[in-house]
Amino acid sequence: MPLDLVAAGLALALAAARADAGAPDGCTRIADIAPNYSITYGAAVQGLFDDYATNGGSAGCINCHEPPAPTGGLDLTAGVSWGHLVGVPSGEDASILYVVPGRPEDSLLFRKVNCDVPGVGARMPLDDWGGGLLPEQQALIYDWIANGALPGTSATVFRDGFDIRGFVP
Ligand code: HEC
Repeated sequence: MPLDLVAAGLALALAAARADAGAPDGCTRIADIAPNYSITYGAAVQGLFDDYATNGGSAGCINCHEPPAPTGGLDLTAGVSWGHLVGVPSGEDASILYVVPGRPEDSLLFRKVNCDVPGVGARMPLDDWGGGLLPEQQALIYDWIANGALPGTSATVFRDGFDIRGFVP
């Protein structure tokens, strides 16, 4: 497919994402958290999917989002999670993508971990399973997406130091 058609399709998908999914509300402030300038997907983001526990035990997104019947139809296990997220429409609301590289606020993955009302379904992890995510862990997902949502290591300095991160100023 010619690149301009791909770009036009992506622009349409983005416009639809903004128009259709409900506006997020009750979001945690991450503006003051130190940014992560270098992020390795496997170690950091998959590491969090595997075990983010903040209650002293062990708990992962994959406790629910794993085969053979991942909740929400979303398999977040190692080796397949990136391909299930980046540029992929939500199974619950196809008007929004899980991850739009460079645009965390338009990405359902970030909204789901950052906001009580993400616009589609409930906040993750569901019912604060394992203690829920720390603001730093939410900011890691934000920074990974803002840095381009690469499958390997991203080391982009994406901010000018004055941008506000997240939904709450
Ligand atoms: C205790 C079980 C449980 C845990 C733990 C859990 N989830 Fe979920 N997740 C669900 C259920 C149930 C749904 C479907 C309902 C909804 O979207 O609220 C879902 C839906 C989702 C969706 C949207 C799927 C879609 O098609 O729109 C995303 C994204 C998501 N979860 C990400 C995560 C992430 C990231 C974590 C870890 C930080 C996590 N979940 C932890 C149960 C869980």
